[in-house]
Amino acid sequence: MKIAIIGTGYVGLTTGTCLADLGHQVTCVDHGQEKVEKLNRGESPIFEPGLEELIVKNKTAGRLSFTTTIEPAVKAAEVIFICVNTPPKPDGHADLKYVETVAREIAENINSEYKVIVDKSTVPVKTAEKVKETILRYVKSDAQFDVVSNPEFLREGTAVKDTLEPDRIVIGVDSEKAMEKMLAVYQPLIEKTQAPVKIVSVKSAELIKHGANTFLANKISFANLIAETCEEVGADALEVLAAIGLDERIGNQFLSPGIGFGGSCFPKDIAAYKKTLEILGIDNSLVVAIEKINQRSTERFLHKVERELWVLDGKTIGILGLAFKPNTDDIRNAPALKIIAGLKAEGAKIKAYDPQAMANTKKMITDIEYANDPYQVAQGSEALIICTEWDEFKNLDLVKIKELMVTPIIFDGRNIFDPAAVKELGFKYFGVGR
Ligand code: UDX
Ligand code: UDX
Repeated sequence: MKIAIIGTGYVGLTTGTCLADLGHQVTCVDHGQEKVEKLNRGESPIFEPGLEELIVKNKTAGRLSFTTTIEPAVKAAEVIFICVNTPPKPDGHADLKYVETVAREIAENINSEYKVIVDKSTVPVKTAEKVKETILRYVKSDAQFDVVSNPEFLREGTAVKDTLEPDRIVIGVDSEKAMEKMLAVYQPLIEKTQAPVKIVSVKSAELIKHGANTFLANKISFANLIAETCEEVGADALEVLAAIGLDERIGNQFLSPGIGFGGSCFPKDIAAYKKTLEILGIDNSLVVAIEKINQRSTERFLHKVERELWVLDGKTIGILGLAFKPNTDDIRNAPALKIIAGLKAEGAKIKAYDPQAMANTKKMITDIEYANDPYQVAQGSEALIICTEWDEFKNLDLVKIKELMVTPIIFDGRNIFDPAAVKELGFKYFGVGR
Protein backbone atom coordinates (compact mmCIF):
# COMPACT_ATOMS: atom_id res chain seq x y z
CA MET A 1 0.00 0.00 0.00
CA LYS A 2 1.04 3.59 -0.49
CA ILE A 3 1.40 5.33 2.86
CA ALA A 4 2.32 8.89 3.85
CA ILE A 5 3.65 9.74 7.30
CA ILE A 6 3.47 13.38 8.31
CA GLY A 7 5.96 14.24 11.06
CA THR A 8 9.07 12.12 11.47
CA GLY A 9 9.81 12.38 15.18
CA TYR A 10 10.15 9.32 17.41
CA VAL A 11 6.68 8.13 16.56
CA GLY A 12 6.45 8.98 12.85
CA LEU A 13 9.91 7.80 11.95
CA THR A 14 9.57 4.50 13.76
CA THR A 15 6.08 3.89 12.41
CA GLY A 16 7.03 4.79 8.83
CA THR A 17 10.19 2.70 8.85
CA CYS A 18 8.44 -0.32 10.34
CA LEU A 19 5.53 -0.07 7.88
CA ALA A 20 8.08 0.02 5.02
CA ASP A 21 9.73 -3.03 6.53
CA LEU A 22 6.37 -4.80 6.40
CA GLY A 23 6.38 -4.22 2.63
CA HIS A 24 4.46 -0.96 2.21
CA GLN A 25 5.58 1.97 0.07
CA VAL A 26 6.15 4.74 2.61
CA THR A 27 6.89 8.43 2.15
CA CYS A 28 7.79 10.32 5.31
CA VAL A 29 7.19 14.07 5.27
CA ASP A 30 8.69 16.51 7.75
CA HIS A 31 9.06 20.27 7.61
CA GLY A 32 12.51 20.04 9.16
CA GLN A 33 14.91 20.42 6.21
CA GLU A 34 17.98 19.34 8.18
CA LYS A 35 16.22 16.25 9.53
CA VAL A 36 15.09 15.18 6.07
CA GLU A 37 18.59 15.68 4.62
CA LYS A 38 20.03 13.53 7.37
CA LEU A 39 17.45 10.81 6.76
CA ASN A 40 18.17 10.91 3.05
CA ARG A 41 21.82 10.20 3.86
CA GLY A 42 20.59 7.13 5.75
CA GLU A 43 21.30 8.60 9.20
CA SER A 44 18.78 8.50 12.02
CA PRO A 45 18.27 11.89 13.69
CA ILE A 46 17.53 10.10 16.98
CA PHE A 47 19.26 7.35 18.90
CA GLU A 48 16.89 4.40 18.87
CA PRO A 49 18.31 0.86 18.89
CA GLY A 50 17.87 -0.90 15.52
CA LEU A 51 16.18 2.05 13.80
CA GLU A 52 19.03 3.33 11.63
CA GLU A 53 19.73 -0.16 10.22
CA LEU A 54 16.06 -0.51 9.34
CA ILE A 55 15.97 2.94 7.68
CA VAL A 56 18.97 2.08 5.50
CA LYS A 57 17.56 -1.36 4.64
CA ASN A 58 14.19 -0.04 3.51
CA LYS A 59 15.56 3.05 1.77
CA THR A 60 17.91 0.83 -0.23
CA ALA A 61 15.01 -1.48 -1.08
CA GLY A 62 13.15 1.56 -2.46
CA ARG A 63 10.24 1.27 -0.02
CA LEU A 64 11.06 4.27 2.20
CA SER A 65 11.69 7.88 1.24
CA PHE A 66 11.88 11.25 2.99
CA THR A 67 10.78 14.65 1.80
CA THR A 68 9.80 18.12 2.99
CA THR A 69 7.09 18.40 0.33
CA ILE A 70 3.71 17.21 1.49
CA GLU A 71 1.76 17.51 -1.77
CA PRO A 72 2.93 14.50 -3.83
CA ALA A 73 3.07 12.27 -0.75
CA VAL A 74 -0.52 13.05 0.23
CA LYS A 75 -1.81 12.81 -3.34
CA ALA A 76 -0.28 9.37 -3.86
CA ALA A 77 -1.14 7.86 -0.48
CA GLU A 78 -4.10 5.64 0.33
CA VAL A 79 -3.46 6.05 4.04
CA ILE A 80 -2.00 9.19 5.66
CA PHE A 81 -0.68 9.06 9.22
CA ILE A 82 -0.55 12.28 11.27
CA CYS A 83 2.44 11.92 13.61
CA VAL A 84 3.28 15.49 14.54
CA ASN A 85 3.97 16.58 18.07
CA THR A 86 1.21 17.53 20.49
CA PRO A 87 3.03 19.50 23.21
CA PRO A 88 1.31 20.68 26.39
CA LYS A 89 -0.01 24.23 26.68
CA PRO A 90 0.68 26.09 29.95
CA ASP A 91 -2.69 24.88 31.31
CA GLY A 92 -1.82 21.24 30.56
CA HIS A 93 -4.15 20.88 27.60
CA ALA A 94 -2.62 19.34 24.48
CA ASP A 95 -1.66 21.98 21.96
CA LEU A 96 -3.17 20.74 18.72
CA LYS A 97 -1.92 23.50 16.45
CA TYR A 98 0.43 21.19 14.52
CA VAL A 99 -2.35 18.63 14.08
CA GLU A 100 -4.57 21.39 12.73
CA THR A 101 -1.83 22.64 10.40
CA VAL A 102 -1.31 19.17 8.99
CA ALA A 103 -5.06 18.53 8.66
CA ARG A 104 -5.28 21.73 6.67
CA GLU A 105 -2.30 20.80 4.49
CA ILE A 106 -3.86 17.42 3.83
CA ALA A 107 -7.17 19.09 2.91
CA GLU A 108 -5.44 21.37 0.44
CA ASN A 109 -3.71 18.46 -1.27
CA ILE A 110 -6.11 15.54 -1.37
CA ASN A 111 -7.91 14.63 -4.56
CA SER A 112 -11.14 12.76 -5.17
CA GLU A 113 -9.58 9.35 -4.48
CA TYR A 114 -10.67 7.86 -1.15
CA LYS A 115 -8.13 8.41 1.66
CA VAL A 116 -7.89 7.24 5.22
CA ILE A 117 -6.43 9.88 7.51
CA VAL A 118 -5.00 8.42 10.70
CA ASP A 119 -4.41 10.21 13.98
CA LYS A 120 -1.32 8.52 15.39
CA SER A 121 -0.21 11.43 17.56
CA THR A 122 -1.50 11.18 21.11
CA VAL A 123 -4.49 13.47 21.28
CA PRO A 124 -7.42 14.09 23.62
CA VAL A 125 -10.70 12.34 22.96
CA LYS A 126 -12.78 13.97 20.19
CA THR A 127 -9.73 15.26 18.26
CA ALA A 128 -10.60 13.14 15.21
CA GLU A 129 -13.92 15.01 15.02
CA LYS A 130 -11.99 18.28 14.83
CA VAL A 131 -9.59 16.91 12.23
CA LYS A 132 -12.56 15.90 10.10
CA GLU A 133 -14.17 19.34 10.50
CA THR A 134 -10.89 21.03 9.58
CA ILE A 135 -10.45 18.93 6.44
CA LEU A 136 -14.04 19.58 5.37
CA ARG A 137 -13.50 23.31 5.93
CA TYR A 138 -10.40 23.59 3.76
CA VAL A 139 -10.87 20.84 1.20
CA LYS A 140 -11.07 21.99 -2.41
CA SER A 141 -12.25 18.89 -4.22
CA ASP A 142 -15.10 16.50 -3.50
CA ALA A 143 -12.63 14.44 -1.51
CA GLN A 144 -13.72 11.10 -0.06
CA PHE A 145 -12.06 10.39 3.26
CA ASP A 146 -12.41 8.98 6.76
CA VAL A 147 -10.53 10.01 9.88
CA VAL A 148 -9.47 7.15 12.12
CA SER A 149 -7.57 6.88 15.39
CA ASN A 150 -4.70 4.40 15.66
CA PRO A 151 -2.72 5.15 18.82
CA GLU A 152 0.88 4.02 19.20
CA PHE A 153 2.17 2.33 22.33
CA LEU A 154 5.87 2.40 21.54
CA ARG A 155 8.41 3.19 24.21
CA GLU A 156 11.57 5.05 23.41
CA GLY A 157 14.56 2.75 23.55
CA THR A 158 12.47 -0.22 22.40
CA ALA A 159 10.43 1.61 19.78
CA VAL A 160 11.21 -0.74 16.88
CA LYS A 161 10.49 -3.86 18.91
CA ASP A 162 7.28 -2.35 20.34
CA THR A 163 6.10 -1.51 16.82
CA LEU A 164 6.99 -4.84 15.22
CA GLU A 165 5.89 -6.97 18.18
CA PRO A 166 2.95 -5.02 19.62
CA ASP A 167 0.89 -6.12 22.64
CA ARG A 168 -2.19 -5.02 20.69
CA ILE A 169 -3.19 -3.01 17.64
CA VAL A 170 -5.95 -0.51 18.35
CA ILE A 171 -7.95 0.76 15.39
CA GLY A 172 -10.65 3.32 16.05
CA VAL A 173 -12.95 3.57 13.03
CA ASP A 174 -16.49 4.64 12.34
CA SER A 175 -16.72 3.21 8.80
CA GLU A 176 -16.38 -0.23 7.25
CA LYS A 177 -14.30 1.09 4.36
CA ALA A 178 -11.73 2.68 6.68
CA MET A 179 -11.58 -0.47 8.77
CA GLU A 180 -10.71 -2.57 5.73
CA LYS A 181 -7.91 -0.19 4.71
CA MET A 182 -6.46 -0.15 8.23
CA LEU A 183 -6.60 -3.94 8.47
CA ALA A 184 -4.75 -4.10 5.15
CA VAL A 185 -2.05 -1.79 6.57
CA TYR A 186 -1.49 -4.10 9.53
CA GLN A 187 -2.19 -7.43 7.81
CA PRO A 188 1.51 -8.40 7.43
CA LEU A 189 2.07 -7.66 11.13
CA ILE A 190 -1.08 -9.48 12.23
CA GLU A 191 -0.02 -12.57 10.26
CA LYS A 192 3.51 -12.47 11.63
CA THR A 193 2.79 -11.79 15.28
CA GLN A 194 -0.82 -12.76 15.89
CA ALA A 195 -1.10 -9.49 17.81
CA PRO A 196 -4.66 -8.97 19.06
CA VAL A 197 -6.51 -6.34 17.04
CA LYS A 198 -9.10 -4.19 18.78
CA ILE A 199 -11.50 -2.54 16.38
CA VAL A 200 -13.27 0.14 18.37
CA SER A 201 -14.99 3.47 17.85
CA VAL A 202 -12.81 6.49 17.11
CA LYS A 203 -13.49 8.04 20.52
CA SER A 204 -12.72 4.79 22.36
CA ALA A 205 -9.38 4.52 20.56
CA GLU A 206 -8.49 8.06 21.55
CA LEU A 207 -9.28 7.28 25.19
CA ILE A 208 -7.35 4.00 25.20
CA LYS A 209 -4.04 5.85 24.77
CA HIS A 210 -4.62 8.42 27.50
CA GLY A 211 -6.07 5.70 29.72
CA ALA A 212 -3.09 3.36 29.27
CA ASN A 213 -0.50 6.05 29.90
CA THR A 214 -2.34 7.39 32.96
CA PHE A 215 -2.58 3.88 34.36
CA LEU A 216 1.14 3.23 33.86
CA ALA A 217 2.05 6.60 35.40
CA ASN A 218 -0.27 5.68 38.28
CA LYS A 219 1.69 2.47 38.87
CA ILE A 220 4.97 4.39 39.04
CA SER A 221 3.56 6.99 41.43
CA PHE A 222 2.16 4.20 43.58
CA ALA A 223 5.63 2.61 43.71
CA ASN A 224 7.07 5.98 44.72
CA LEU A 225 4.46 6.34 47.45
CA ILE A 226 5.42 2.93 48.83
CA ALA A 227 9.08 4.02 48.65
CA GLU A 228 8.30 7.12 50.68
CA THR A 229 6.49 5.00 53.26
CA CYS A 230 9.40 2.56 53.43
CA GLU A 231 11.89 5.34 54.06
CA GLU A 232 9.78 6.58 56.97
CA VAL A 233 9.40 3.19 58.63
CA GLY A 234 12.67 1.52 57.65
CA ALA A 235 11.28 -1.09 55.23
CA ASP A 236 12.67 -1.93 51.79
CA ALA A 237 10.49 -0.80 48.89
CA LEU A 238 12.01 -3.29 46.47
CA GLU A 239 11.06 -6.17 48.75
CA VAL A 240 7.57 -4.76 49.26
CA LEU A 241 6.91 -4.02 45.58
CA ALA A 242 8.39 -7.28 44.30
CA ALA A 243 5.94 -9.18 46.49
CA ILE A 244 3.01 -6.93 45.59
CA GLY A 245 3.80 -7.39 41.90
CA LEU A 246 3.69 -11.17 42.16
CA ASP A 247 -0.08 -10.89 42.31
CA GLU A 248 -0.94 -11.55 38.67
CA ARG A 249 -3.69 -8.98 38.83
CA ILE A 250 -1.06 -6.34 39.61
CA GLY A 251 2.06 -7.53 37.76
CA ASN A 252 5.60 -6.38 38.46
CA GLN A 253 6.20 -4.06 35.51
CA PHE A 254 6.29 -0.30 36.01
CA LEU A 255 6.60 -0.70 39.76
CA SER A 256 10.16 0.62 40.10
CA PRO A 257 10.46 3.60 42.45
CA GLY A 258 12.95 6.30 41.54
CA ILE A 259 13.35 9.99 40.90
CA GLY A 260 10.08 10.21 39.00
CA PHE A 261 8.87 9.58 35.47
CA GLY A 262 9.81 11.91 32.64
CA GLY A 263 9.86 11.79 28.87
CA SER A 264 7.73 13.28 26.17
CA CYS A 265 4.63 11.23 26.96
CA PHE A 266 3.67 10.54 30.58
CA PRO A 267 3.93 14.12 31.93
CA LYS A 268 2.18 15.54 28.86
CA ASP A 269 -0.48 12.86 28.54
CA ILE A 270 -1.57 12.86 32.16
CA ALA A 271 -1.74 16.66 32.15
CA ALA A 272 -3.93 16.48 29.03
CA TYR A 273 -6.17 13.79 30.54
CA LYS A 274 -6.49 15.84 33.74
CA LYS A 275 -7.62 18.80 31.65
CA THR A 276 -10.05 16.63 29.66
CA LEU A 277 -11.66 15.48 32.92
CA GLU A 278 -11.89 19.07 34.12
CA ILE A 279 -13.61 20.13 30.89
CA LEU A 280 -16.04 17.21 31.18
CA GLY A 281 -16.83 18.16 34.79
CA ILE A 282 -15.38 14.91 36.17
CA ASP A 283 -13.37 14.86 39.41
CA ASN A 284 -9.70 14.58 38.39
CA SER A 285 -8.13 14.20 41.83
CA LEU A 286 -6.66 10.77 41.01
CA VAL A 287 -4.63 12.29 38.17
CA VAL A 288 -3.67 15.28 40.33
CA ALA A 289 -2.29 12.86 42.94
CA ILE A 290 -0.22 10.99 40.33
CA GLU A 291 1.39 14.26 39.26
CA LYS A 292 1.96 15.42 42.83
CA ILE A 293 3.68 12.22 43.89
CA ASN A 294 5.84 12.33 40.77
CA GLN A 295 7.00 15.85 41.49
CA ARG A 296 7.61 14.96 45.12
CA SER A 297 9.77 11.98 44.08
CA THR A 298 12.29 14.28 42.42
CA GLU A 299 12.13 16.86 45.21
CA ARG A 300 12.50 14.32 48.01
CA PHE A 301 15.57 12.90 46.33
CA LEU A 302 17.09 16.34 45.99
CA HIS A 303 16.45 17.02 49.67
CA LYS A 304 18.18 13.76 50.52
CA VAL A 305 21.31 15.04 48.77
CA GLU A 306 21.05 18.43 50.46
CA ARG A 307 20.53 16.87 53.89
CA GLU A 308 23.56 14.65 53.56
CA LEU A 309 26.00 17.09 51.97
CA TRP A 310 24.75 20.07 54.03
CA VAL A 311 26.34 23.05 52.21
CA LEU A 312 26.34 22.51 48.45
CA ASP A 313 27.95 25.81 47.52
CA GLY A 314 31.24 25.13 45.73
CA LYS A 315 30.98 21.32 46.01
CA THR A 316 31.48 19.22 42.88
CA ILE A 317 28.67 16.73 42.32
CA GLY A 318 28.82 14.04 39.64
CA ILE A 319 25.73 13.18 37.63
CA LEU A 320 25.54 9.82 35.87
CA GLY A 321 22.71 9.78 33.34
CA LEU A 322 20.87 12.65 31.69
CA ALA A 323 18.33 10.88 29.45
CA PHE A 324 14.85 10.43 30.94
CA LYS A 325 15.47 6.67 30.77
CA PRO A 326 18.14 4.35 29.33
CA ASN A 327 18.63 3.52 25.64
CA THR A 328 17.53 6.90 24.39
CA ASP A 329 19.17 10.30 23.84
CA ASP A 330 15.91 12.03 24.75
CA ILE A 331 16.05 14.52 27.64
CA ARG A 332 12.50 15.87 27.41
CA ASN A 333 11.22 16.24 31.02
CA ALA A 334 14.20 14.24 32.23
CA PRO A 335 14.31 14.18 36.07
CA ALA A 336 18.11 14.59 35.81
CA LEU A 337 17.62 18.12 34.49
CA LYS A 338 15.47 19.09 37.48
CA ILE A 339 18.05 17.65 39.85
CA ILE A 340 20.86 19.53 38.11
CA ALA A 341 18.84 22.76 38.31
CA GLY A 342 18.19 22.24 42.03
CA LEU A 343 21.85 21.56 42.79
CA LYS A 344 23.03 24.50 40.70
CA ALA A 345 20.62 26.80 42.54
CA GLU A 346 22.45 25.88 45.76
CA GLY A 347 25.82 26.70 44.17
CA ALA A 348 27.03 23.15 43.42
CA LYS A 349 29.38 22.54 40.50
CA ILE A 350 28.08 19.83 38.21
CA LYS A 351 30.05 17.28 36.24
CA ALA A 352 27.88 15.04 34.07
CA TYR A 353 28.05 12.07 31.74
CA ASP A 354 25.51 10.15 29.68
CA PRO A 355 26.29 7.52 27.03
CA GLN A 356 23.93 9.10 24.45
CA ALA A 357 22.20 12.23 25.71
CA MET A 358 25.10 14.68 26.11
CA ALA A 359 24.76 16.31 22.70
CA ASN A 360 21.11 17.15 23.40
CA THR A 361 21.87 18.36 26.94
CA LYS A 362 24.74 20.57 25.76
CA LYS A 363 22.25 22.50 23.63
CA MET A 364 20.21 23.29 26.77
CA ILE A 365 22.73 23.53 29.61
CA THR A 366 26.03 25.21 28.94
CA ASP A 367 27.29 26.01 32.44
CA ILE A 368 28.16 22.51 33.64
CA GLU A 369 31.14 20.30 32.89
CA TYR A 370 30.63 17.32 30.57
CA ALA A 371 32.86 14.30 31.10
CA ASN A 372 33.95 11.58 28.66
CA ASP A 373 33.14 8.69 30.97
CA PRO A 374 31.86 7.89 34.48
CA TYR A 375 35.39 7.77 35.91
CA GLN A 376 36.07 11.32 34.80
CA VAL A 377 32.82 12.30 36.56
CA ALA A 378 33.97 10.61 39.76
CA GLN A 379 37.36 12.36 39.69
CA GLY A 380 37.21 15.06 42.38
CA SER A 381 33.45 14.66 43.05
CA GLU A 382 32.03 14.77 46.57
CA ALA A 383 29.03 12.66 45.59
CA LEU A 384 27.76 10.70 42.62
CA ILE A 385 24.10 10.77 41.63
CA ILE A 386 22.65 8.06 39.40
CA CYS A 387 19.81 9.61 37.39
CA THR A 388 19.43 7.04 34.57
CA GLU A 389 19.85 3.28 34.87
CA TRP A 390 22.14 2.69 31.87
CA ASP A 391 23.76 -0.79 31.88
CA GLU A 392 27.13 0.94 31.63
CA PHE A 393 26.63 2.29 35.16
CA LYS A 394 25.56 -1.06 36.61
CA ASN A 395 28.93 -2.53 35.66
CA LEU A 396 31.21 0.25 36.95
CA ASP A 397 34.46 -0.56 38.70
CA LEU A 398 33.37 0.87 42.04
CA VAL A 399 36.76 0.36 43.67
CA LYS A 400 38.27 2.67 41.06
CA ILE A 401 35.35 5.10 41.41
CA LYS A 402 35.92 5.29 45.17
CA GLU A 403 39.60 6.08 44.75
CA LEU A 404 38.79 8.93 42.36
CA MET A 405 36.16 10.61 44.55
CA VAL A 406 36.83 13.15 47.29
CA THR A 407 34.20 11.54 49.49
CA PRO A 408 32.62 8.22 48.48
CA ILE A 409 28.90 8.95 48.57
CA ILE A 410 26.40 7.52 46.08
CA PHE A 411 22.82 8.71 45.66
CA ASP A 412 21.23 6.03 43.55
CA GLY A 413 18.07 7.52 42.04
CA ARG A 414 17.28 4.32 40.13
CA ASN A 415 18.26 1.66 42.69
CA ILE A 416 20.82 0.07 40.37
CA PHE A 417 23.20 -1.02 43.13
CA ASP A 418 22.87 -3.50 45.95
CA PRO A 419 23.07 -1.29 49.07
CA ALA A 420 24.94 -3.90 51.14
CA ALA A 421 27.57 -4.54 48.44
CA VAL A 422 28.21 -0.83 47.91
CA LYS A 423 28.46 -0.15 51.64
CA GLU A 424 30.87 -3.07 51.95
CA LEU A 425 33.17 -1.25 49.51
CA GLY A 426 33.19 1.76 51.83
CA PHE A 427 30.59 3.99 50.19
CA LYS A 428 27.89 5.89 51.97
CA TYR A 429 24.82 4.83 49.96
CA PHE A 430 21.34 6.31 49.53
CA GLY A 431 18.80 4.58 47.32
CA VAL A 432 15.07 5.23 46.89
CA GLY A 433 12.79 3.54 49.42
CA ARG A 434 15.56 1.38 50.81
C1 UDX B 1 4.84 13.31 19.09
C2 UDX B 1 3.89 13.66 20.22
O1 UDX B 1 4.58 14.35 21.23
C3 UDX B 1 3.19 12.49 20.74
O2 UDX B 1 2.19 12.86 21.63
C4 UDX B 1 2.53 11.76 19.65
O3 UDX B 1 2.05 10.54 20.11
C5 UDX B 1 3.43 11.55 18.47
O4 UDX B 1 4.12 12.69 18.10
P1 UDX B 1 7.30 12.60 18.85
O5 UDX B 1 7.29 11.73 17.66
O6 UDX B 1 8.27 12.27 19.93
O7 UDX B 1 5.89 12.55 19.56
O8 UDX B 1 7.42 14.14 18.41
P2 UDX B 1 8.63 14.93 17.79
O9 UDX B 1 9.88 14.16 17.97
O10 UDX B 1 8.53 16.32 18.29
O11 UDX B 1 8.31 14.89 16.22
C6 UDX B 1 7.33 15.59 15.55
C7 UDX B 1 7.83 15.86 14.13
O12 UDX B 1 6.79 16.47 13.38
C8 UDX B 1 9.04 16.76 14.04
O13 UDX B 1 10.05 16.13 13.31
C9 UDX B 1 8.50 18.01 13.35
O14 UDX B 1 9.47 18.63 12.52
C10 UDX B 1 7.36 17.46 12.54
N1 UDX B 1 6.33 18.45 12.20
C11 UDX B 1 5.69 19.17 13.16
C12 UDX B 1 5.98 18.64 10.86
O15 UDX B 1 6.57 18.01 9.97
N2 UDX B 1 4.99 19.54 10.56
C13 UDX B 1 4.36 20.27 11.50
O16 UDX B 1 3.49 21.07 11.17
C14 UDX B 1 4.72 20.07 12.85
C1 UDX C 1 5.60 5.69 27.40
C2 UDX C 1 4.72 4.43 27.35
O1 UDX C 1 5.36 3.37 28.08
C3 UDX C 1 4.44 4.03 25.92
O2 UDX C 1 3.56 2.91 25.90
C4 UDX C 1 3.82 5.21 25.21
O3 UDX C 1 3.54 4.91 23.87
C5 UDX C 1 4.70 6.43 25.31
O4 UDX C 1 4.97 6.73 26.67
P1 UDX C 1 8.20 6.23 27.13
O5 UDX C 1 7.86 7.63 27.48
O6 UDX C 1 9.10 5.97 25.98
O7 UDX C 1 6.89 5.37 26.86
O8 UDX C 1 8.93 5.60 28.40
P2 UDX C 1 8.57 4.58 29.57
O9 UDX C 1 9.41 3.38 29.43
O10 UDX C 1 7.13 4.36 29.72
O11 UDX C 1 9.12 5.39 30.83
C6 UDX C 1 8.59 6.65 31.19
C7 UDX C 1 9.23 7.16 32.44
O12 UDX C 1 8.83 6.39 33.56
C8 UDX C 1 10.77 7.14 32.46
O13 UDX C 1 11.25 8.35 32.99
C9 UDX C 1 11.10 5.98 33.36
O14 UDX C 1 12.34 6.13 33.99
C10 UDX C 1 9.96 6.02 34.34
N1 UDX C 1 9.69 4.74 35.01
C11 UDX C 1 9.26 3.67 34.29
C12 UDX C 1 9.81 4.65 36.40
O15 UDX C 1 10.20 5.61 37.07
N2 UDX C 1 9.52 3.44 36.99
C13 UDX C 1 9.09 2.36 36.30
O16 UDX C 1 8.82 1.32 36.92
C14 UDX C 1 8.95 2.47 34.89
